[in-house]
Amino acid sequence: MIEGKGKGIGPAEERLSRFLARSGIASRRHADELIAGGRVTVNGQPAVLGQKIRPGKDVVLVDGKKVGGAEKQVYIMLYKPPGYLSSCSDPRGRKTVLSLLGGVPERVYPVGRLDYDAEGLLLLTNDGELTYLLTHPRHRVVKEYSVWVEGPRDEGKIREILSGIIIGGKKVQVDYARFGGEKGRLQEIVIAVHEGQKHLVKHICHSVGYEVKRLKRLKIGPLSLGSLKKGEWRYLSPGQVEALYREARKGWEGERGR
Ligand code: URA
Repeated sequence: MIEGKGKGIGPAEERLSRFLARSGIASRRHADELIAGGRVTVNGQPAVLGQKIRPGKDVVLVDGKKVGGAEKQVYIMLYKPPGYLSSCSDPRGRKTVLSLLGGVPERVYPVGRLDYDAEGLLLLTNDGELTYLLTHPRHRVVKEYSVWVEGPRDEGKIREILSGIIIGGKKVQVDYARFGGEKGRLQEIVIAVHEGQKHLVKHICHSVGYEVKRLKRLKIGPLSLGSLKKGEWRYLSPGQVEALYREARKGWEGERGR
């Protein structure tokens, strides 16, 4: 269940951000950004944060396009190459991942982010509920990365990472971390986290004295990059979508039982 669902709102009303998420426009966090950015109107008036609407009665537009809530839901996995932004547009004119998705008629959004210089598995969808479930740290969906760092192969640093690095005043729980391959002075660390702070994996590596040379996401929960090549994408199967939902909900239940 979505957090806060229906709290204090009459049955015919719904919070605008939730309506936008449910309609596949954006995650709830991104929906708030759209509202705050003046891109949403309700019955011709600029929307405000926290606003409630009557679905089916009020006319909601995003960037002038009507939000109907009935768009076909699509789920895409992409091998994001380095040098692409994982957002829908860039004021500085850099390439975005959307430019790699030729032939997809639906308006899809990246689920979470990968740094501009990072690469690997990126999900895109117009299913706001799945986006919310996958990006909320409470749902504990684990993402696995392969990170190539420069420095000595020092098991002490792995122990330090596993013991919980403090970042921004908060201890980051790493799900697992171990050394992988080795190429001269470069070491591969395979590391998994379920939180989503900006540059998290880079911060973890820097904090034990490693410089990150390459960062690649290999897995999101049950989904692996597999044989996709840089820049390639494909639709998820219904089974894969179901597995993602199951994983996110399992984390949610686990958190509640803690
Ligand atoms: N951690 C990072 O530092 N960068 C990413 O892109 C993802 C996780």
